[in-house]
Amino acid sequence: MSKTATLKIDDQELELPVIVGSEGEKAVDVRKLRATTGYITYDEGFGNTGSCQSEITYIDGEVGILRYRGYPIEQLSEKCSFVEVAYLVIYGELPTVEQRERFSAALTEQAPLRAGMERFIQNFPRDAHPMAVLSSSLNALGAYYPNIASNNHKRDLEHFDEAAAIALSKVRTIAAHTYRVNNGLPLNYPKKDLGYSENFLHLMFSAPYDEYVATPEVAAAINFFFLLHAEHEQNCSTSIVRMVASAGANLFASAAAGVNALWGPLHGGANQAVLEMLNAIHADGDDGSKFIEAAKNGKARLMGFGHRVYKNYDPRAKIIKGSFDKALDSLGITDDSLLDIARNLEAAALSDDYFISRKLYPNVDFYSGLIMNALKIPVEMFTVMFAIGRMPGWIAQWHEVASNPKAKINRPRQIYVGPVPRDVPDVV
Ligand code: CMC
Repeated sequence: MSKTATLKIDDQELELPVIVGSEGEKAVDVRKLRATTGYITYDEGFGNTGSCQSEITYIDGEVGILRYRGYPIEQLSEKCSFVEVAYLVIYGELPTVEQRERFSAALTEQAPLRAGMERFIQNFPRDAHPMAVLSSSLNALGAYYPNIASNNHKRDLEHFDEAAAIALSKVRTIAAHTYRVNNGLPLNYPKKDLGYSENFLHLMFSAPYDEYVATPEVAAAINFFFLLHAEHEQNCSTSIVRMVASAGANLFASAAAGVNALWGPLHGGANQAVLEMLNAIHADGDDGSKFIEAAKNGKARLMGFGHRVYKNYDPRAKIIKGSFDKALDSLGITDDSLLDIARNLEAAALSDDYFISRKLYPNVDFYSGLIMNALKIPVEMFTVMFAIGRMPGWIAQWHEVASNPKAKINRPRQIYVGPVPRDVPDVV
């Protein structure tokens, strides 16, 4: 029997339907609330608001569960590649061998950029932040594919496979080209025989007479990083992607908006902020203890700690941490002062009542910045790496909105608290 919730407001009693998700998540359906009572709900930060029903990702932040399309992240990271997980996130099922081959071939075909797109990237100033370049370039991609980015969802969906391959493959090429341009280096071109992560490393680091060949461990670490970031339900950037899509916008415009949200230091920018924090602590001659005190007194924020949803260990942080020593060993890194500081911070925070009582645990960004630092990815590229990894999620979420015949434009309300009506004085 379907459940309802009763809301008593003024003299009115209202029966509100209850929606239950496939994992037993419960929501009170308030869609008719305003029309019936004149009231709206107030939920600044949307911590209690379900903005959609989605089939893509399940998170239980209290116990630290993350599943893509029903598969636990722990199993996916053990058994699958990033490209397979991207296919799963986008299409709902893990690929067969044939589907995987077709998908990989489409990614290979879409890897190079049009010459105009290359010039577009080359024309940014050399000190441009790569996230600014990425967001602009994703938007610009839409200009190169007007049939696919028509802002008519029905038409755009007819070209969805191509659009998905373009977005997923070219985000990596744009990112690497940006790094080359910012460092005054000639561009590299994608190679047919390399996998997704190997190609990214080649695009980034090959020199004209010195081809970069990734060790299996380094390629695996990059693959792993992308895979762990592939999707994370209604976080800030994904909500923005859905919001832009809800207005009818195309995939590239929606993903570009997601990049802008991800850039913020409280979201994807946290991995860059973690490394900057560790460097500042190191430069200060602190072992981490002074910084912990500052964080407890509200004078600093321990970047890479805390999460809006996870009130337990972020499962992605657990996986990254588990593989961390292996990756460092393979790179021959045994002694690292930033790593020591990170370990001190983690140990101190995990045993301190301030952090325990607020359920502040390390999130995925706490260790991912250190891994990328070890892989010689420059710090301003960290959030771009997150964006490459997150592209499958944005594509899947865009598709969910675009293919939903009942989807509505997202348009929250507000409580106005400004001045009450008044007359403009004669002299201003
Ligand atoms: N260091 C110190 N105190 C903190 C921290 C932190 N990192 N995070 C939260 N707090 C405190 C906060 O001051 C507040 O204390 P009080 O109750 O005394 O006022 C309490 O914990 C609750 O914090 P909140 O800001 O209400 O929590 P939120 O759910 O709104 O914020 C967060 C979540 C991720 C924005 C926040 O924890 C934060 O700023 N963390 C650092 C940035 C970071 O690592 N972000 C990456 C998130 S994971 C990657 C992603 O998915 O985007």
